[in-house]
Amino acid sequence: MAEIETFYERVGGSPFFADLVSQFYARVSIDLILAPMYPDKDFKQAAQRLQMFLEQYWGGPGTYSETRGHPRLRMRHGSFHIDSSARDAWLSCMRGAVDGVDISQELKDELWKYLYSAAIHLVNQPD
Ligand code: HEM
Repeated sequence: MAEIETFYERVGGSPFFADLVSQFYARVSIDLILAPMYPDKDFKQAAQRLQMFLEQYWGGPGTYSETRGHPRLRMRHGSFHIDSSARDAWLSCMRGAVDGVDISQELKDELWKYLYSAAIHLVNQPD
C-alpha cells in the first residue's frame, strides 16, 4: 500500500526549507522594520529556528520541539512589537522567498495559505 507523502517530502525535504528560510532572512536582514528586531544581528540562529519549526510543522523531523519545546508561537512573539506594518513587512519578505523557491504553484499556494494566516494570528499590537 502506498504511503501518503507529507508536504515535507513533496517539496524535497530539508534542502527546500533551507532555501526558503535563507531567501527569507536575506530580505529580513535589510528590512527597515524587521532588521532592528534582531539586535545581535543573529540571523543565522533565528534562521535555524524558523527552518526547524517549518520542517516540523510540515511533517518533517521533530527537531524543533526536541530542542526548543512546544512552539507556542504567540507567546514566543509576545516580546516583539508586531503591528500591521510589521506583519506586512514579514509577509512581504516571505512572499519574495516563496516566489523564489523551485516548487509547483500548487505547493506554493498551500505553503502561502498557512504562512499568511499564521502571520495574521501573531499580530499583538492594535493600529
Ligand atoms: C507577523 C510577523 C512576524 C514577526 C515580526 C516575527 C518576528 C520574529 C522575531 C523578531 C523572532 C526572534 C528571532 C529568533 O531569535 O528566533 C521570531 C522568532 C520566531 N518566529 Fe517569528 N515573526 C513573525 C511571524 C512568524 C510566523 C508567521 C511564523 C511561523 C509560521 C514565525 C515563526 C517563528 C519561529 C519558529 C521563531 C523562533 C521561536 C523560538 O524558538 O524561539 N514567525 N519571529
